[in-house]
Amino acid sequence: MSVESPSKERWATRIGLVLAMAGNAVGLGNFLRFPVQAAQNGGGTFMIPYFISFLLLGIPLMWIEWGIGRYGGNAGHCSAPGMFEALTGRRKHWAKYLGALGLVIPMIVFTYYTYVVSWMLAMSFFSLTGSFFGLGEVDAMRGFLASYQNISDSSFVSGGVTIGFFLVTFCFIAFVLSRGVSGGIEKLALYGMPILFVFAFLLMARVLTLPPAVASPADGLNFIWNPDWGALGNARVWLAAAGQMFFTLSVGMGTIHCYAAYLREKDDIALTGLSTAATNEFAEVVLGGTIAIPAAVVFFGVAGATAIAQGGSFDLGIVAMGVVFQKLPGPQILGQLAAFLWFFLLFIAGATSSVAQASPTIAFLQDEFGWRRKRAATAVAAVGFGLAIFHVLFFRMGVLDEWDYWAGTFGLVVFAAVEIVLFSFIFGIDNGWKQLHEGADIRIPAPYKPIMKWVTPAFLAILLGWWGVTEAWPALLMENVTDPATIPYRWVSRILMVALVLGCLWMIRAAWRRRPDEGSST
Ligand code: PHE
Repeated sequence: MSVESPSKERWATRIGLVLAMAGNAVGLGNFLRFPVQAAQNGGGTFMIPYFISFLLLGIPLMWIEWGIGRYGGNAGHCSAPGMFEALTGRRKHWAKYLGALGLVIPMIVFTYYTYVVSWMLAMSFFSLTGSFFGLGEVDAMRGFLASYQNISDSSFVSGGVTIGFFLVTFCFIAFVLSRGVSGGIEKLALYGMPILFVFAFLLMARVLTLPPAVASPADGLNFIWNPDWGALGNARVWLAAAGQMFFTLSVGMGTIHCYAAYLREKDDIALTGLSTAATNEFAEVVLGGTIAIPAAVVFFGVAGATAIAQGGSFDLGIVAMGVVFQKLPGPQILGQLAAFLWFFLLFIAGATSSVAQASPTIAFLQDEFGWRRKRAATAVAAVGFGLAIFHVLFFRMGVLDEWDYWAGTFGLVVFAAVEIVLFSFIFGIDNGWKQLHEGADIRIPAPYKPIMKWVTPAFLAILLGWWGVTEAWPALLMENVTDPATIPYRWVSRILMVALVLGCLWMIRAAWRRRPDEGSST
């Protein structure tokens, strides 16, 4: 069945593949988003729904996505539209259109995510130059970050600097993408991931050996590791935990599929998929959880750290940590070095995820339009750049929030619901189960078969319903918008998102029309 297209790329080595997949999953979500979600939702309280989500959503979806990806890839399609068609048979013409989600979602996430990654490069640089040393209070550090983010506010950093770091980051990512799967993405992961882990271990060791200040590092660990079973009845905590699970594992996006598409038919996915999920969880819970939370607890106490985390994803990882590095015992240069390790780690984690987000659309242009890698990468980078500029200019106007909510939070659950129905019901769980075990190095535990067919879809349905009613509907009506000045910008960003969806549907239609054998079948 394998139709190898001439441009078909492959991973060069298994270790390269594992590191690239880990690089895809391990990102800002692990080190910035996770600590904030945990702190906002009561620490240990959060961890129980989080682990249940891992077992019942994360792991099964990970396997399914690897399965769909390898299957589609070997039928010549490295992005969701063609994969969905391969999975459902050519008679189901609508299936490929559902695959548009697997292009739009990662593309939208790519535009704002890459902008945030560029801040990490800037912060690494500022750590070495000591630019924010001297701003030893949370509010001052917030001001520094705000001045960086807001290009018209030059109180600490001028707008040109922000734009400069953004350009450098963007060019770097576009360069990696243009080098291809084994020559670019795999190489970045081969060098980047080991550095990331070494930096994380060094930081973890530093945090755990901190002398107690307001509290001790152990108080910080207690905070996230003391479960509170009563919280299982709290809907908000469940939604937050499930949302974090999706984002951190990169499931429900189309990027895992795309990477798995560069496997061969008989390459193992059962063990490798599970290892990726496990590596991500290690990076998140052990490394991500042991750096920012305990460090903030030591210097601000549990209540202080929780209060800072209420400010959002960047307040703990950038603002609080920025202050923590200034308060470390010892000469300032050591604090600067520790800050560099932290922010550069974040840069690597983010860059290896950014390249994953752009990959499905590049693969789509290569496979379905026959474009060469360089041309496809340039086109995607250009579109991504055009959209990202929107974030650079209007960061404060709720644009990023809108995109992150609809694509990076809600969209993932929708995409996951679609793919699991296609996999478990249309492709059929028996077929699917066989597919997952082709060339497998382990047997997937038997209970996962009924889980994939019934439990995960039911979990997703409940999530979608619950979420839809309690959050998405009010969010759609903008009931939660606190600053009315942002409303026009939010509408523009929504219109852009809809335009992107329509653009993708149109591209899919155009691609399938080009095919000599089915020009009239759409
Ligand atoms: N999983 C990544 C993180 O934790 C984010 C990501 C989203 C990566 C979408 C790829 C695709 O930060």
